[in-house]
Amino acid sequence: MRQFVLIGHDVPTTPEFSLDDLAGGAGRLDALCRSITAAFVTSHGIREDVRVHLIARDEYTITFDGRELQRLNPDERSTAALVRKALEHREDAIGALPAEPSPGIELYRRGFEGTLEAIADDGPIVQLHEDGDAVVDVGAEALADSIFVLSDHRDVTDAEAALLEGFGDQRLRLGPELLHADQAITVAHHYLDTDGYERF
Ligand SMILES: C[S@@+](CC[C@H](N)C(=O)[O-])C[C@H]1O[C@@H](n2cnc3c(N)ncnc32)[C@H](O)[C@@H]1O
Repeated sequence: MRQFVLIGHDVPTTPEFSLDDLAGGAGRLDALCRSITAAFVTSHGIREDVRVHLIARDEYTITFDGRELQRLNPDERSTAALVRKALEHREDAIGALPAEPSPGIELYRRGFEGTLEAIADDGPIVQLHEDGDAVVDVGAEALADSIFVLSDHRDVTDAEAALLEGFGDQRLRLGPELLHADQAITVAHHYLDTDGYERF
């Protein structure tokens, strides 16, 4: 299982946003939706062995599970509509119990720390970072069940960096260029799909 935690610093926490203004009024939700697509969508299907956790302003976490996910299309607008629907159901999330707005999507009333705590036993927590250890030096085997953490258009905050330190603070560089988060996800998938560029 590959997991991706996307930190959405400016993502709305209520559903009152326009699907026509994802890059502006919706806090760069366009880029985060592209990241969700990059994590799941292949040319002919959905990667079932993937989970994505979208952190909305450290207040809610919307979890997408590839084993049950339905109606995830390649366009940003329909993915944003799934996020909006999840936020419409936010009052159903009580304590540790999530709201279940659509198949394969759950909304939890927890932020970055709560989410890391909940999934930390699944695998190593690895921050994708342009100043990290080169992926080719770490190797695909060690990364097989990783939980990859990515930020949006903003840098991780000092508080988020401190939290990551507490969870091992492994940083991984995918290449020399600073990429968009969706591009970084695609490169990470490619590295793991090919067993570290060995299998084509
Ligand atoms: C658009 S970048 C964030 C850029 C940063 N906040 C800034 O504006 O300077 C989004 C995310 O992609 C990932 N990323 C980008 N380039 C990367 C690279 N070369 N290696 C690993 N991860 C990368 C990181 O997780 C980063 O937080």
